[in-house]
Amino acid sequence: MSLQQHAETLKTEAMAALAAADTTQALQDLRVHYLGKKGALTELMKQLGTLSAEERKTAGAALNLVKDDVGAALDARQSALEAAELNARLITEKLDMTLPAQAVMPGRIHPISQTMDEVISIFASMGFVLAEGPDVETDWHNFTALNMPPDHPARQMQDTFYMPGDGATGDGEKIVLRTHTSPVQVRTMQAQKAPLRIICPGRVYRCDSDQTHSPMFHQVEGLVIDEATTMAHLKGCLVDFLRAFFGIPDLPARFRPSYFPFVEPGAEMDIGCARQGGQLKLGNHGDWLEILGCGMVHPDVLKNCGIDPEQYQGFAFGMGIDRIAMLKYGIPDIRSFFEGDTRWLQHYGFAPHLLPNAAFDVRV
Ligand code: DAH
Repeated sequence: MSLQQHAETLKTEAMAALAAADTTQALQDLRVHYLGKKGALTELMKQLGTLSAEERKTAGAALNLVKDDVGAALDARQSALEAAELNARLITEKLDMTLPAQAVMPGRIHPISQTMDEVISIFASMGFVLAEGPDVETDWHNFTALNMPPDHPARQMQDTFYMPGDGATGDGEKIVLRTHTSPVQVRTMQAQKAPLRIICPGRVYRCDSDQTHSPMFHQVEGLVIDEATTMAHLKGCLVDFLRAFFGIPDLPARFRPSYFPFVEPGAEMDIGCARQGGQLKLGNHGDWLEILGCGMVHPDVLKNCGIDPEQYQGFAFGMGIDRIAMLKYGIPDIRSFFEGDTRWLQHYGFAPHLLPNAAFDVRV
């Protein structure tokens, strides 16, 4: 068989094969089989070298023609198959606009944020304004200015995280993660003097970790300084707050004398509760639950902050936000606040429209 005849046979065979190919992949295999580097037609072209110059001319022209025909037929079939495959995809991948929307988890407000906003909102209705301070504090603001000099035993109850060196101040003073929100009292008194009525929520830190203690937790501090502010104001303000916050208008409250270096006299406040089988229920049930610390601001603290204790006096209080959130919303483990579990947040979180706002009077 001459090279031309061989080429014609290959062409007939190739045309039949590519007409039968029904995928672009099958077609690609045929292209390699006939026209690839080691393809059947390519091998024939290589044999042209064995012919005489005269024969090579006619055979070469004929082989090139076959090669071009097969190439053109492959291209045409390729376009047809691509169009068919695209059509098939368009049919199966059709977007069904009648399908119901997939349930997407809406964002939820974290119970700590919700509780902070409730607290702020109630105190705002009593004329308090918001004040803030840094989480990373100087030893002086966190302890010394609040009547806790370096050797004071009360410091031990608030073991914290000390920063290496003396921070950015360069004056040899120790830098700590604040153990309570009380240093915000100090900063605000220094900056704004008296009179003052502030509420200071924020993160605080202590070396503590179990079901009811987290190394990072939240407190809210309150401070009122004026010329004639008394313990009676303190009592009325805190009783009103707790009744509004827990939504129990007759919630019993009592004050027990207690010691905090930055107040004199100092007290702890308890609210009424019942303990039944490990369950805690707030209200007028005969039992008591400690809820916060408070007192009349110590004259030395006023002096440390540049306020004259002969002219001004006032009260302060501090309480744990995580703790009152756990109590109000029945959350048993403080650690769950900080685990970032979206299923937990879905259950315990709040819809954004439930945040207290100016249109929502929280007083009972
Ligand atoms: N700073 C105290 C603590 O973290 C709480 C506290 C007690 C704050 C009495 C006060 C106060 O302002 O008067 O334990």
